[in-house]
Amino acid sequence: MRIVDIIEKKRDGKELSTEEIRFFISGFCDDKITDYQASALLMAIFIRGLNTRETADLTMAMADSGDRIDLSEIPGVKVDKHSTGGVGDKTTLILAPVVAACGVPIAKMSGRGLGHTGGTIDKLESIKGLRTSLNREEFIDNVKQIGIALAGQTGNLAPADKRLYALRDVTATVSSIPLIASSIMSKKIASGADKIVLDVKTGSGAFMKTFDQSVMLARQMVSIGDHMGRRTVAVITDMDTPLGNNIGNSLEVLEAIEVLRGQGPEDLKIVCLELAARMLELAGKGSVEQCRRLAEMAIRDGSALLKFKDMALRQGADYPPWDERAMEPAAVQEPVYAPFEGYIASIQSDIAGRSSMILGAGRETKESTIDYSAGIILNKKPGEFVKKGEQLAKLHTSNVPKLREAREMLLGAYKVSDSPPDAKPLILAYIDKDKITKF
Ligand code: URA
Repeated sequence: MRIVDIIEKKRDGKELSTEEIRFFISGFCDDKITDYQASALLMAIFIRGLNTRETADLTMAMADSGDRIDLSEIPGVKVDKHSTGGVGDKTTLILAPVVAACGVPIAKMSGRGLGHTGGTIDKLESIKGLRTSLNREEFIDNVKQIGIALAGQTGNLAPADKRLYALRDVTATVSSIPLIASSIMSKKIASGADKIVLDVKTGSGAFMKTFDQSVMLARQMVSIGDHMGRRTVAVITDMDTPLGNNIGNSLEVLEAIEVLRGQGPEDLKIVCLELAARMLELAGKGSVEQCRRLAEMAIRDGSALLKFKDMALRQGADYPPWDERAMEPAAVQEPVYAPFEGYIASIQSDIAGRSSMILGAGRETKESTIDYSAGIILNKKPGEFVKKGEQLAKLHTSNVPKLREAREMLLGAYKVSDSPPDAKPLILAYIDKDKITKF
C-alpha cells in the first residue's frame, strides 16, 4: 500500500477502505508518512468528505493509536460529556459535580482552550494548587472514593488525533464535519465512558455556525458512538452569545460556584440543567423531567457544591474554591462604558472570546501561556436596555497595554437595536440515534 495512492483516491472522490484508513493512521504515527502527505490527505478529505463508515473507521484508528482508559473497576454507569467548544462555557465545572452528587460516577478527561474558546483544564488550574495531571491509579481511586475526578488528557490518549489536529490547525482543515466528528469521538471512545452526552454548540462562537451544520455534526457523532456500542446523544445549544456573564478562567470558576450555590445567570443554569438531566437519564436515573428535578435538588441542598469542593481539595487545591485566597484576582479591572444607547440585540461570541484572549485569558498558539485571572465580566446581555455611558462590561487583566485593543474589540461584538430583540431559545434540539427533536 502507498500513501500517494490513498491521497489520489480521496482526491478523486472515491471511498477509502478500512485498511487504507488504518494504514494512514499507523504510518503517520510511526513517522513513515510525512506531514506534507498527511496534510494533502486531510485537504482531500476536507473537500471530498468521508461517508459514515469511513468516519467510524478513522475514529477507531485514532482511538487505537494510544492508550484506552479502562473504567470497569468503577462501579456504575460512567457517563461522559463533551462540548464542541465555546465562549464562557463553564458547564463541566457545574454539571460534573451535580451529576456526581446524584450518585453517577464522573471520570472525566478534558482539554485546554485554544484560540477564542476556553478549556475546562485551564479553568480548573486557575484554582491554586489544583492538579489536573493525575496518574491512572489516582484518577480511578478519586472516582471510587468521592465519585468524581476531572483530569487533563494524558499525552497518549488518541495521539494520532493530537498530531493531526495540529496539522489541521495550520492547513485550514479544521472545520470539516467528518474530521471534527472523528477527532472528538476518538478521544471519547479512548476515555472509556459507557455513554456520552454531546453539547454541540451552534452560532458565531462555535465551530458550526449554522443550525443545520450543527445537526449534521451531532448526527455523525451520535452514529459513531452508537456504532461503537457507546450510547451517545447530543443537545444542540446556542453559542451566538457567550454563555453566562463571565469569560476567562478564574472568572468562570467564580460563576460556576455561583450557579452551584443556586444563583448565577439564567442562561447558564438552563444549559447546565439540560445537560445534567440528559446525563442522569442515560445513567438510568429516570425520565428527563425526573432527572432535571434531581439535578435541581443537588444544587438546592448544597451537595453539588460540596462535591466540587471535595474534588478540588482531593486534587490538591490549597483552599476550598470559594475561599477568596483560592484564586488570584486580576491586577487591573477596568469598566467598559456604552458608547451607544438601545437594546442589546446580540454580543458576538467569537469576538468577545478574542477580546478575552487579548487580555491574556486564551492561547494564540498551543505554546502561549495564559493569565488565569484575565477575562471579561459582561454586565448587560442581549435583551437588556443600555443607556449611553452605562457600564457594559469589566475587563480583567495584568496586561495594561492590551486594554485599549481588547475594549475596542469587545465593543465591536455588540449589535444594538431600537426595539427589544426576539428571545432566542438556548436549547435548540435533542438528537439520538432514532430521531431529532427540535425545540
Ligand atoms: N474539538 C476537537 O477535539 N477536535 C476538533 O476537530 C474540533 C474540536
